Amino acid sequence: MKRIAVLTSGGDAPGMNAAVRAVTRGTLAKGWEVLGVRNGYAGLVAGTMEPLAARDVGGIMQDGGTALGSARSPEFTEAAGREKALRNLATRGVEALVVIGGNGSQTGSAALSREGFSVVGIPSTIDNDLYGTDVSIGADTAINVTLEAIDRLRTTASSHQRAFLVETMGRDCGYIALMAGIAGGAEVIVIPERDIEPPEVAERLRAAYRRGKTHAIVVVAEGARRGVHALMEHYKEHRDSIGFELRLTRLGHVVRGGAPSAADRVLATRLGAAAADALAAGRHGVLVGLVRNEIEQTALGEIAGRMRPADAGLLEMARTMAL
Ligand code: F6P
Repeated sequence: MKRIAVLTSGGDAPGMNAAVRAVTRGTLAKGWEVLGVRNGYAGLVAGTMEPLAARDVGGIMQDGGTALGSARSPEFTEAAGREKALRNLATRGVEALVVIGGNGSQTGSAALSREGFSVVGIPSTIDNDLYGTDVSIGADTAINVTLEAIDRLRTTASSHQRAFLVETMGRDCGYIALMAGIAGGAEVIVIPERDIEPPEVAERLRAAYRRGKTHAIVVVAEGARRGVHALMEHYKEHRDSIGFELRLTRLGHVVRGGAPSAADRVLATRLGAAAADALAAGRHGVLVGLVRNEIEQTALGEIAGRMRPADAGLLEMARTMAL
């Protein structure tokens, strides 16, 4: 092996830069060259990639987002787009690719691998919905951003005897909402993995008010089937009986912005180094993940197109704690 390329793909996640740095330095340390691809698969199709030196990835670990850029590339989902990408890689003498990204991105890397190119995937998505790893780069920071919002909303909620609906990201997975909800002491957590109807949420708020709570927080995952719209609609019709006044805060892209947490930087560094090690050991067609705090490799074909749900079993514990 002489030369590899690295790209970040899909929604950006805090810690992606730390992963690029680790892949680059881990690879350079083996005496190989590294090219950084601009804007994910779109850059691969366009052939925009430049050599990365150790100094090029200095001072980026603490930055959120991705210095390489990211994009969603419809062209790459077609065989013709991937052929173009493979031609560009061949022209530049690239023998292997490291793909840092989430579910859609690793489906792309599985396709490239099936088509005969050497690829190693690194799980990076705030949603934490990938198989093959207990935790993906970016999830910890996203939980902490959501938690900070919850803590801040709680102080104003408490001062005004209000309840807040806090909607956080996660696509179809409730992981961020569940973890931030537990850490933030939410009265109710609404996630796609376990349906809860608006009348039941309203009843829990009513009960919390009767128990003398001065505030209540409902954390809602954006992918919940009966999400913030349904909950607000129900509230409007029953506001007199609920006790609390209810307000809505949708965090949106705030959740995936900002500097990565220490945990995300460490995870990204471990996984980036592991990707370089995997290639050095002649391994490819795999995702390097962290399972029970050990680096594990899982075939890309096994994880592509599958979504790992959040552990809805934790909802019962969270409910008890909301007493
Ligand atoms: O997958 C990461 C994520 O932030 C999801 O939580 C969210 O649903 C989605 O991306 C938003 O995508 P976009 O940035 O394209 O609007």
